[in-house]
Amino acid sequence: MKFLRTLPQPIYSRRIFILFLLSTYLLITLIFYVNKLNPSLCNFNKICDVKEEVASENTREKFITYLPHSGLHNQRIALENAVFMAWALNRTLILPPLILGARFPFQAFDKLENYLNFLSKVKQKNCMNMKSKMNLTHCEKLRDSYTFYRWDQLFDFTFISRNVKIIHRDELISENLFLKFNMSNDEEQVWRKYGNAQKNSFYDSRMYGNIKSSNKFSNKHSILELRERDEGLLYFNSLFGSALIKLVIPRNIQFMKEIRESFIISNPTLLDITKRISDELGGRMNYLSAHARIGDGGFKKLSRKWIKNLINDIVEYFHEDSNLSNSADCKQNDSMTFSKMFYLASDAHSKDVQGLKPIIQLLPCALMLEDFKDLLIPMNELVNERDGLRMTKFFIPILDLMIAANGKHVFTMRYSTYSSYLKRYHQYLTQSV
Ligand SMILES: *[C@@H]1O[C@H](CO)[C@@H](O)[C@H](O)[C@H]1NC(C)=O
Ligand SMILES: *[C@@H]1O[C@H](CO)[C@@H](O)[C@H](O)[C@H]1NC(C)=O
Ligand SMILES: *[C@@H]1O[C@H](CO)[C@@H](O)[C@H](O)[C@H]1NC(C)=O
Ligand SMILES: *[C@@H]1O[C@H](CO)[C@@H](O)[C@H](O)[C@H]1NC(C)=O
Ligand SMILES: *[C@@H]1O[C@H](CO)[C@@H](O)[C@H](O)[C@H]1NC(C)=O
Repeated sequence: MKFLRTLPQPIYSRRIFILFLLSTYLLITLIFYVNKLNPSLCNFNKICDVKEEVASENTREKFITYLPHSGLHNQRIALENAVFMAWALNRTLILPPLILGARFPFQAFDKLENYLNFLSKVKQKNCMNMKSKMNLTHCEKLRDSYTFYRWDQLFDFTFISRNVKIIHRDELISENLFLKFNMSNDEEQVWRKYGNAQKNSFYDSRMYGNIKSSNKFSNKHSILELRERDEGLLYFNSLFGSALIKLVIPRNIQFMKEIRESFIISNPTLLDITKRISDELGGRMNYLSAHARIGDGGFKKLSRKWIKNLINDIVEYFHEDSNLSNSADCKQNDSMTFSKMFYLASDAHSKDVQGLKPIIQLLPCALMLEDFKDLLIPMNELVNERDGLRMTKFFIPILDLMIAANGKHVFTMRYSTYSSYLKRYHQYLTQSV
């Protein structure tokens, strides 16, 4: 302060003023060029030039939707991507119901759409007057093998609803989709995106335009360009894929992370049963758990190899200084010895299944869901009012995952979307203890 006062006043202010002008000019130029070179700096949720232009032109509500396929966790990943896209594109998300039970794999757009239509009608007509080759027994068997469930009856939507407007669909009949939203099913109003993650990827950097790349099997789309699309509905064949959306802008990366971390199972009945079973196992974060998937696809074919890897991980964890096969050590409440209480989650529902033998030999203390039948009784009260089906058989894999996630350490298999959610849920529980 003293030093400043000693300066001749006029010279001082003029210098400061020139310096100020110069630095302002430099800053403005810098911002201008940085933006010009890399317009992706313009964040989606922060008003920037591109967005304001678009917004002022058009403020009518626009929509985004997609076709669901495959198992719960593939549908979950698609949902997380859809929420991100709805947020980034400022569109209302028309959310398909969660399909539990039988899995219906990815197919080309029209085929998948028709099949989901058909499945919806099987439920709607309750197997009466089904105009098809199917006989009644066959139809009823199919009808009861899957159920359409509301996502928010199972998962926590607090974060998502705060950021994106969501409309839940309760069936997948395409005519109803267009009727409800007053749209004609034509190219002017509906932009269909064909293919899955093998064909499409989405970028928050403007480096990628909506031009087809030389490789016709990989379409790279800029999300900023998708924002400018005028169609009332963006309709995706599939939004599944852990790396479908490629992000570089920190705000967007953060938002995607928040979607994922907040998407946690919140069904009160399942939480309650999980707590009771965890208590039997010695209490939350007091037992170990493992997930062994051996029942389908590649996991069935290579089950010996996967189980062997799982066993190696477990043995390594115990540093070989502990005899795991010593069943005398299976004490839940013995705080002196290292707790070896094990919970085994698996799509094989019994310890007697051949594929599980090696792991059961290693872990005689392991318990599975079949050991807690009495505690599952409250689940029988859960009925899906849409089709009258009891939810027990559909919820078993979810409950299995929840119990495993409550262990203090979880051994999982690679390449399983079930395992990746198990790990995420476990991490969430560890942090919220
Ligand atoms: C977002 O969409 C709504 C209509 O659903 C519109 O009113 C609003 O202006 C849009 N906001 C921006 C920033 O584009
Ligand atoms: C109906 O279909 C089931 C399974 O597809 C089959 O086992 C059964 O024999 C059929 N019944 C009649 C009456 O066609
Ligand atoms: C649908 O369009 C018709 C005719 O244009 C209009 O009368 C009706 O209000 C619209 N409905 C909705 C839900 O927008
Ligand atoms: C581990 O315990 C089992 C059962 O008590 C016993 O048969 C086996 O020999 C033990 N193995 C080692 C390496 O001590
Ligand atoms: C473990 O301890 C709890 C309470 O301390 C008790 O209720 C439970 O029965 C015990 N379990 C075993 C297997 O000893």
